[in-house]
Amino acid sequence: MIIRSAEFVKSAVKPSQYPEAALPEVAFVGRSNVGKSSLINTLLNRKRLVKTSSTPGRTQLINFFNINGTFTFVDLPGYGYAKVPKSVVKTWGDMIETYLSTRQTLKGVVMLMDIRRTPGQDETDLIGWFQHYHIPTCYVLTKADKFSNQKRKVHHEHCGETLGLPPSELICFSAKTRLGRERLLDHITPWISE
Ligand code: GTP
Ligand code: MG
Repeated sequence: MIIRSAEFVKSAVKPSQYPEAALPEVAFVGRSNVGKSSLINTLLNRKRLVKTSSTPGRTQLINFFNINGTFTFVDLPGYGYAKVPKSVVKTWGDMIETYLSTRQTLKGVVMLMDIRRTPGQDETDLIGWFQHYHIPTCYVLTKADKFSNQKRKVHHEHCGETLGLPPSELICFSAKTRLGRERLLDHITPWISE
């Protein structure tokens, strides 16, 4: 994929604030601090298009990015940040479910999970939504550079088993080494090239 342009379009919390639903769209979702913004920057070969931070829970809005004028990437707010009050968790869930269920141009979701963490109820719930709304999903294990090859393989298989998915459906990814970038692009390119 050749990235000719990548621009921030706008932030939104509700459908009336979304940009016009005109271009095919791919959304990125995962726990706070899992590496969503870093992954998007790596895919787009941009250093700082999407703000990254070492403080979890910074991205609390739905952020839309226009790429090449032909498709849209959406950075969804992270979940599971312990210091966030219950009322905010509910708002997050409503915001995500509304987006997933109403966005006509959504072609697929990239679901990010930290390779060092066993997937839990939050991940199972999200996968339930993707299935319920018939949204094609690509699963990515982030921060794969944190492990040696051998440990990575063990954790990769463990995450697959926990989710009930074959390891071949989980892409190991690193924003640091760019591991998995080509595989992920191969997966999402058909979603955005209609
Ligand atoms: P929120 O928007 O706050 O939910 O976080 P996020 O999911 O967008 O994560 P972000 O990309 O901001 O990264 C969080 C932290 O993890 C930053 O300190 C990144 O440098 C680090 N990080 C992200 N991806 C990787 C990776 O592949 N390898 C390593 N070692 N660190 C990473
Ligand atoms: Mg972010």
